[in-house]
Amino acid sequence: MKALITGITGQDGSHLAEFLLSKGYEVFGMVRRSSTEKFDRINHIIDKIKLKQGDLLDQLSLIRLIEEIQPDEMYNLAAQSFVPTSWQQPVLTAEFDAVGVTRILEAIRLVDKKIKFYQASSSEMFGKTQEVPQTEKTPFYPRSPYGVAKVYGHWITVNYRESYGIFGCSGILFNHESPRRGLEFVTRKVTDGVAKIKLGLKDKLYLGNLDAQRDWGYAGDYVESMWLMLQQKEPDNYVIATGISHSVKDLVRVAFESAGLDWQKYVKVDQNLVRPAEVDHLLGDASYARNKLGWQPKVSFEEMIKMMVEHDLALQQKILKHKD
Ligand code: NAP
Ligand code: GDD
Repeated sequence: MKALITGITGQDGSHLAEFLLSKGYEVFGMVRRSSTEKFDRINHIIDKIKLKQGDLLDQLSLIRLIEEIQPDEMYNLAAQSFVPTSWQQPVLTAEFDAVGVTRILEAIRLVDKKIKFYQASSSEMFGKTQEVPQTEKTPFYPRSPYGVAKVYGHWITVNYRESYGIFGCSGILFNHESPRRGLEFVTRKVTDGVAKIKLGLKDKLYLGNLDAQRDWGYAGDYVESMWLMLQQKEPDNYVIATGISHSVKDLVRVAFESAGLDWQKYVKVDQNLVRPAEVDHLLGDASYARNKLGWQPKVSFEEMIKMMVEHDLALQQKILKHKD
């Protein structure tokens, strides 16, 4: 089996590539051309995967790639994924996260309609939530240009399924994290901050809204659900979540305590980090995925945060050692 992953250099792309290799897949990754190669998350598997250039902005590059590789499955994980940036670059975010999905679906439609397609949809689509907990049937109310673009990506996937019979699945994944998470997202920002404070490299951590609540899971668990969706008889939409939510304040407390620190001494609120429109509370109900896919999360929130703090402490210690 051949799988093509867009966004293979990202957090989820690297975890999914590892997972598909373990299943015996030939794994191809689409990467955009850059003057410097940033393959930190996939360096450990670089000899086992094949990287090809392409870009969500370039329709012909997508057609050519799919023609050349002829994948059985295609996972679209590439996106401008940081919510605050979507207010700074709303048009580019829409090009990547909304129209980019149509470009891939058009390429599949033209080259081979049998290719199974996974779209990385998001709980950010629920935004100002219309019910608690959120399921596949909960109406969307996005609160950021990112969320709006992801709603488009979701519906165009459903539309190509219904219009052309393409096997397109939409995975509505709630927040998921790991030591490979980008440093700007709140979990990693906190665990990186804890490590630096513990080692005396900084003395304050500035955050935005501490009351926001998220349903946080572990990325390694969540990529399995993407694959399971494409192994079903029929394409569908699935909510993937843990069913437990925590506030940013809880996250901060757990992270600082795991390093033996009192968070109240170090954390400060910076109003500039508060968003123009916030998603206050996300809580997912993944019953459908549990029953249909047999999927369930394995790593708890506390275990994951501890794993991230330990990783960041080890990383900072290594950097300090190299400086000596
Ligand atoms: P990430 O770490 O930010 O990775 C994003 C990936 O997209 C990177 O590989 C990036 O490549 C690539 N990319 C961006 N623009 C591109 C373009 N124009 N052409 C080709 N590649 C492009 O994101 P993630 O956390 O792994 O998330 C994966 C997907 O799931 C995203 O679509 C995200 O929106 C969605 N999602 C994530 C979560 C979550 O909690 N993590 C939850 C729900 C949905 P470069 O390395 O070149 O920048
Ligand atoms: N990033 C960040 N930085 N967030 C902060 C901070 C801060 O200093 N302080 C408080 N927060 C709050 C945000 O306001 C938000 O309510 C929450 O922490 C989570 O922020 P992020 O970690 O940036 O994630 P997100 O929920 O906006 O988006 C992530 O999850 C989505 C799924 O719901 C991203 O991975 C998206 O790509 C994904 O779709």
